[in-house]
Formats: sequence, structure tokens, C-alpha cells
Amino acid sequence: MNKLLRATELSHLLLEDVLQEGHVALDATAGNGHDTLFLAQHVGPSGKVYAFDIQAQALEKAQELIARNNCSERVKFILDSHAKLQYYVKEEINCLVYNLGYLPGGNKNIITTENTSLASLRQGLELLAPGGVLSIIVYCGHPGGDQEAQAVEEFLQGLEAPPWDVLSWKRVNGSPVAPYLLFAQKQG
Ligand SMILES: C[S@@+](CC[C@H](N)C(=O)[O-])C[C@H]1O[C@@H](n2cnc3c(N)ncnc32)[C@H](O)[C@@H]1O
Repeated sequence: MNKLLRATELSHLLLEDVLQEGHVALDATAGNGHDTLFLAQHVGPSGKVYAFDIQAQALEKAQELIARNNCSERVKFILDSHAKLQYYVKEEINCLVYNLGYLPGGNKNIITTENTSLASLRQGLELLAPGGVLSIIVYCGHPGGDQEAQAVEEFLQGLEAPPWDVLSWKRVNGSPVAPYLLFAQKQG
């Protein structure tokens, strides 16, 4: 499949254009660590990545992946809800990433929810540097997913332009529950 047709791949392509050595990134839903690794590789040894997840099992896998790729020194793992982001992150960030829903291969009942996602989005966007970006992969095929998707979209629609540019990359044919990408940039 063409890279541009997959929300996760497209997100990485867009993020690559913005991420630089020394940047600070935040993965709000670390899961198995694939996005965390992508961010760590792009911010380089002088950068930093904060990686949140509420599941110890997920963070262990993510930590192993990061260690195997020699990026441990630049990733701070946080076993807590991203809704408490403000207590852990006190500096400006350049990139904020979400991959909503449940952990692939994990417990499908542990999902991101409207309340915690919106709470963390509000806190995360406060910390976003000018020129910084937000990427959200949205899933609506599981119970509660649709409701969360709608709430997140409504929240993003409420961001003022300027400084915010918000775009949606969504399949308009085929499966109505295919994951899709919401992407925002705070003008510099
Ligand atoms: C779709 S998975 C993330 C996949 C991950 N980006 C990867 O590359 O493997 C969603 C993750 O969000 C986590 N999660 C759910 N609610 C959360 C919360 N309130 N705070 C932080 N993580 C949460 C789940 O435990 C799950 O691991």
C-alpha cells in the first residue's frame, strides 16, 4: 500500500519535515514504542522524548525497543495518564503525538477516552512551541472510539486560525472506520 494511504505512515512523513536534532517531543500514547522510537531517532542524542502510557506491560515493551536501538538516554518513560502531563513536563515541546484506541495485541478494554485525551490535549498544546506540531491517529472502530473521535475533532475545530492550522486526512470511500489522521501546526 502506498505510504500516503496509511495514517501512521503519513503522520511520520509529515513529522519528519518538522522534527530536528535537539527538539523535545511527547508521545502521549507510547504503547509498544514504535512512535516513541521514531521520535527519538529524529530528535537525536541532544533531543528528548517524553513517553506516557498507563500500562506497565506496554512501557516495558517500548523500553526494550528503545534500548535495542540505543536511544534510552533521550527517552523519559512515564507510567501515568497523559491527562497528568502538566505535572511531568515543564518545558516547551516541538511535537505532540497520539495514537488513540487500544494497544495492538493487548487488552482491548484499555482504551484512550474522550476525557483524558481532551485534558492532555489542552495541557500539551499549552506547551507547544511556535512552529510545533500535533499528530493524532484516530480510531473509531471500537466501542467508544466514535465518541472520542467526535470530541477530539470538535476540540480541534475550536482552535483559532491563526495561529493554528488543523487538517484531517480521512478515507472517503471503503471502510468507514479506517484509522485517520488529524494534524495541526502552531504557526511560528
Ligand atoms: C494505539 S496504542 C498506541 C500504540 C503506540 N503508539 C505504538 O507505536 O505501539 C494506545 C495506547 O494508549 C494507552 N493509553 C490509554 N489511555 C491512556 C492514558 N490516559 N494515558 C496514557 N496512555 C494511555 C494504551 O495503554 C495503549 O498502549
